[in-house]
Amino acid sequence: MESSVEEEISVEDEAVDKSSFKRCNQIDFYRRQKRLCPGKSSYRAFMDTVELSNRSVKFQIINEECKVPLLVELYEIEGNIFRLQVNEIAPLKPRYQVSDVLIKEPASLRLTILQKDASELVLACSNEDQQLHITANPFQMQLVSKDEIVLSMNTNDLLYFEHLQHPPQIRKSTLQEKADGSADSFKGYQEDLGLWEDKFGSFLDIKASGPSSVGLDFSLHGYEHVYGIPQHAEPLLLKNTSDDDVYRLYNLDVFGYKIHSKMGIYGSVPLLLAHKPGRTIAVFWLNSSETLLEIATKAAVEEQSSSALFTSTAELSRTPDLSKQRVLPQTDVRWMSESGIIDTFILMGPHPFDVFKQYAQLTGTQSLPPLFSLGYHQCRWNYEDENDVKEVDAGFDKFNIPYDVIWLDIEHTDGKRYFTWDKKKFCNPDRMQKELMKKKRKLVVIVDPHIKADPQYAIYLQAKEKGYFVKDRTGRDFEGICWPGLSSYLDFTSPDVREWYADQFAFKNYKDSSEILFVWNDMNEPSVFRGIELTMQKDAVHHGGWEHREVHNLYGFYQQMATAEGLIRRNGGLERPFVLTRSFFAGSQRYGAVWTGDNKADWSYLKISIPMLLTISVAGISFCGADVGGFIGNPDPELLVRWYQVGALQPFFRGHANRNTRRREPWLFGKENTKIIREAIKERYSLLPYLYSLFYRVHIAAEPVMRPVWVEFPKELKTFSIEDEYMLGNALLVYPVTEPKATTVSVFLPGSQEIWYDFRRFIQLEGQGTLKIPVTLNSIPVIQRGGTVIPLKTSVEKSTEWMADVPYELHAALDYKEYATGELYLDDGHSFRYLHEKQFLLRKFTFHENVFSSRCADENGQFHSKCVVEQILILGLKKQPSSVIARIHDKKVKAVAFTYDAKSSVLTLKKLSLNVSIDWDIEIKVRS
Ligand code: GLC
Repeated sequence: MESSVEEEISVEDEAVDKSSFKRCNQIDFYRRQKRLCPGKSSYRAFMDTVELSNRSVKFQIINEECKVPLLVELYEIEGNIFRLQVNEIAPLKPRYQVSDVLIKEPASLRLTILQKDASELVLACSNEDQQLHITANPFQMQLVSKDEIVLSMNTNDLLYFEHLQHPPQIRKSTLQEKADGSADSFKGYQEDLGLWEDKFGSFLDIKASGPSSVGLDFSLHGYEHVYGIPQHAEPLLLKNTSDDDVYRLYNLDVFGYKIHSKMGIYGSVPLLLAHKPGRTIAVFWLNSSETLLEIATKAAVEEQSSSALFTSTAELSRTPDLSKQRVLPQTDVRWMSESGIIDTFILMGPHPFDVFKQYAQLTGTQSLPPLFSLGYHQCRWNYEDENDVKEVDAGFDKFNIPYDVIWLDIEHTDGKRYFTWDKKKFCNPDRMQKELMKKKRKLVVIVDPHIKADPQYAIYLQAKEKGYFVKDRTGRDFEGICWPGLSSYLDFTSPDVREWYADQFAFKNYKDSSEILFVWNDMNEPSVFRGIELTMQKDAVHHGGWEHREVHNLYGFYQQMATAEGLIRRNGGLERPFVLTRSFFAGSQRYGAVWTGDNKADWSYLKISIPMLLTISVAGISFCGADVGGFIGNPDPELLVRWYQVGALQPFFRGHANRNTRRREPWLFGKENTKIIREAIKERYSLLPYLYSLFYRVHIAAEPVMRPVWVEFPKELKTFSIEDEYMLGNALLVYPVTEPKATTVSVFLPGSQEIWYDFRRFIQLEGQGTLKIPVTLNSIPVIQRGGTVIPLKTSVEKSTEWMADVPYELHAALDYKEYATGELYLDDGHSFRYLHEKQFLLRKFTFHENVFSSRCADENGQFHSKCVVEQILILGLKKQPSSVIARIHDKKVKAVAFTYDAKSSVLTLKKLSLNVSIDWDIEIKVRS
């Protein structure tokens, strides 16, 4: 049945008027876990059950009260990672264990037993400096590195594991058999029943497995700075929590989410990083059910001793020697999940980049985006029809603004039936795409996970017949309301559904789609209007009989996985996909980009977007961005301009706006503002070689594209809480202007020995620490770090594809040793040939002892480019050059034209025409 327009509008309005979300004290497993008091833990380990194998060490622990035995399995994983799993030895039925997030079963190393008696077990690790100490009663663990306790578990006695039980009906009959029917037993029965059902408003959640929550506390010794666990509209540095304000990881559609709230929004990555000078570590809590986190930073008194062994519980009970005590910061973190098992990884760093690599070793790196997707994206809900698309596209040419992709939101479809077109508005999508193709531009269309319940709709019909929808608890297809009205939801957790879904993107199935069409997955938390907390009932049932509660945070992850697979397959595996998703989980970096959802056109949202994106970036997902301009409401021109300026220097760069906002294409705000926005976008395009090279680094080595300043300056305490500026790669420091009418900003320049250069004027910035920098509306401060070389393009064209042959320009900013180095990555920009046929080129540029050289940085690369390096700027060269010559392959020598500006110490090498694929050196002779 076709829903009427009125009906559709009311559905949309309802999406805006969200019903309330749970507060912590309305989350039943949280209330239960909160009953646990720090004190004596009920868990005891049995050292006589210890089993050592090549893979792991296993032993049993028991809860002294309920006597249910649990199996603990400890692994040391190659690359300085530890894994702890806790599960029931004999659960009534299997408990959910997350699959598909880890790229493979991590290879473990053999631990050895150093010491074992009834009270203690000490394990030696492959790295001799590290040991695992396990105490039996209470069961606790410590990770010790060089005699320092780095991290300990269950120190606050908050290990929690609800074992599976028989449903209360069975228990009731047992109780009745026991005959007395006393008030006590009945009360007990009612309490039991309460554990199997949960009410929130009018919603009843019936738990098929009963209470099954798990939890564990970690003490991070010496740490007071913790980061990660996106996504929250919160500062970069995680805050201490209070009882009714804990970090929640539960993917929800929160339109215009509140700033400074720890409640869950669209995506979740259960990775928490802790940093102190000299060491970064992380805890990865692999659980896809609703998860809560408490954080408490405090000053802890620790005993200084020759061996951390002496900090065992037994030793601590003796009279402390005050002279040997020291006060250290400590952060206690408590993870709580609604179900599943305890499966947690400790990433031991020690450098921040080691932690990023360790996490990527487990969950994979960022996929290498096709180059076009690093260009500018123009989106709006909605570009109404073909003519609208044509006019907006032409507008970019008319106003000389580069862009790569135009986006179509839900209205492009036939009644929100994804994979179809509204043929009144888009009567010839094929022609539209051919026009865009001629302009070397792309199209992105939205494909949401809900499927309109319409038997005339082929996708619905097929999915229904095949049983591909998520079921409700009674076994019928789950139905909920979303954009199309009544809908069912594809069960992406099923490999068969993903296979079938991927096939829907085949050109023969997706009518009027072409190779320039890419995809946007939205509403995939999943969003269910009128549903509990606007999402799916937790008692809905997925493939394998698993309840939705087990997999909730994975739903969007799996949809993006299937979509990316579909786009790869439609071209026979040759072309890289581009898929944007709103909901995400650990590992989503493998499938494309994410954005921060429905933000507002307000300065505070511009400001919070920086820590939000930095947090997503340190959690492995580099390809991230926020809606430029703010999705909800109308930005004033100044805000829009400022947002473009920062968006242009962030990984994913898309302007987007809600349906009821005024049009805001970049040329609609007067000549001056158009000019400033144009400049910001053009600067992005000229910087694409640098950005693309950064994406290669994150793809192969997990180095985040957008980084908190502390990641580059891990020893400098002052950087640890900086979130109003950030590093783009290791070379650029960006200071976004997030206040209206700003005339100066205070930029912190870290590093006592660093030299910093104005990226646009090339001059060295005077002073250290916090500098007051004047700003106009024209630009935001961008500063190049001495010691780096940045590759750029010398001119900007209509889109990335037009720029393939544009020559390069290199900016070498010298450090105090007059040294600089940087990389350039190149390939065809769109295919997998970089991977399968080694069709890539990695160049390393170095300036050292007055010679600028270009060398191959990876001999495996086979790609050749006709492109040349046309110009090189050397910033901070103190001496006037007398002559400059270039040596190509050590053979041909030619004189190089140059200019030198003694005032700014900038040497410009001109008309070089040096091929970018080959080795060459440029020697600069200076007057002594
Ligand atoms: C959601 C998305 C938004 C999109 C809209 C209509 O609110 O977050 O980006 O435009 O749905 O599809």
